[in-house]
Amino acid sequence: MYNERTLSGGLDDIETASIDELRALQLKRMRWSIAHCYNNVPAYRAMCQEKGVHPFDLKKLEDLKHFPFTTKDYLRLNYPFGTFAVPNRDVVRIHASSGTTGKPTVVGYTQNDIDTWANVVARSIRAAGGHSGDKVHISYGYGLFTGGMGAHYGAERLGCTVIPMSGGQTEKQVQLLQDFDPDIIMVTPSYMLNLIDEMERQNVDPQKLALRLGIFGAEPWTDEMRKNIEGRLGIDALDIYGLSEVMGPGVAQECLETKDGPTIWEDHFYPEIIDPNTGEVLPDGEYGELVFTSLTKEALPIIRYRTRDLTRLLPGTARPMRRIDKITGRSDDMMIIRGVNVFPTQIEEQILKVAQLAPHYEIYVTKDGNLDNVEVKVELTTEGRDADRPATAKELQHHIKGVVGISTRVSVQDPGSIPRSEGKAKRVFDQRPR
Ligand code: DLL
Repeated sequence: MYNERTLSGGLDDIETASIDELRALQLKRMRWSIAHCYNNVPAYRAMCQEKGVHPFDLKKLEDLKHFPFTTKDYLRLNYPFGTFAVPNRDVVRIHASSGTTGKPTVVGYTQNDIDTWANVVARSIRAAGGHSGDKVHISYGYGLFTGGMGAHYGAERLGCTVIPMSGGQTEKQVQLLQDFDPDIIMVTPSYMLNLIDEMERQNVDPQKLALRLGIFGAEPWTDEMRKNIEGRLGIDALDIYGLSEVMGPGVAQECLETKDGPTIWEDHFYPEIIDPNTGEVLPDGEYGELVFTSLTKEALPIIRYRTRDLTRLLPGTARPMRRIDKITGRSDDMMIIRGVNVFPTQIEEQILKVAQLAPHYEIYVTKDGNLDNVEVKVELTTEGRDADRPATAKELQHHIKGVVGISTRVSVQDPGSIPRSEGKAKRVFDQRPR
């Protein structure tokens, strides 16, 4: 039983299996998953027929490349339940991602799916260094977003005590972090920064909290941000990755012993990296768009789903399964500035190099005639509030120009002036006319 193994501190068998065993399991499961989707989702079957492929064509894992991609549009066009492969009565949970425009993307789970999800999140918390008996404060939002409930069921499955705080009520969060002594916090990295600010405002020393681990995800964050948060809180900060279409949090998780990018739980989620322009599959190690095929999901099997996340696949270290490099960003967040591709994470790295700057920022892109202009709004830390602002702006401009390669206008503001997030932070405001 899963629970017994985790309670005794052991790993799931598959976490120590050989690569050959893993690949054999993946092939078996992939054949089931594609056939399940083809047989039960008319919209998917039509896409395969149009491409002239049939589930029988999958003889080896590499044959996956012959199957069509699915995208957010596949879910939107079949809104709300047209991509489900089981009757509605077998769907025990619905989540949805808000999306910025139009209809939300809807995802569904059978009871088995919920169990699998709880297991992979329990495995993730354990890989991050958590164990049964730990108290877990969850500040990911509860509701249609998968973060809160996904983390919640996983923490319970591992045998933890869950504090289902959800997002918001920042003052109260800080109170409970002091009073309930949680060992672990699960939250977006940007909201963690907001919570640390609130601790400072209330004169609470973050180092004195019982917290030992932070499991941060749902948005891109850099190693520089990791160091910042670890230093200020005195904890280990680990990266958790996931997306609703594929499951939710817990598709991949960074291991405490290596902290070298999230390990993909490949027994349930099969990764590929493709060239986003041609759709061609790229070898491990090359950067491109991450694509996932679910191997065990019943309600919403998803085959070759284009995540829009840009990263690369790396060999296993703490586990035999492959890792992803830290996500550079989503292709949707990529700014093309005078021909140079720029991601918010690249700017973040440079901001964190300037000691007197806080790790909060916004990027505004405007157009002046034919020229793209970028303004980076940053703020001083409380200790650095008297720093020379023009000199600080110049220092940051210099770092950005040197490393990222673009000229920017930098506006250095008072501590606390950049709006704070309670979930996923919005960093880029592209105000160029379409
Ligand atoms: O954000 C699920 C989640 C909740 C993951 C809590 C981790 C923790 P969605 O709202 O569907 O699901 O957004 C998925 O968020 O495609 C990435 O662009 C981004 N994302 C998620 N985790 C990370 C991460 C949840 N660790 C989208 N690093 C994904 C970078 C991440 N980006």
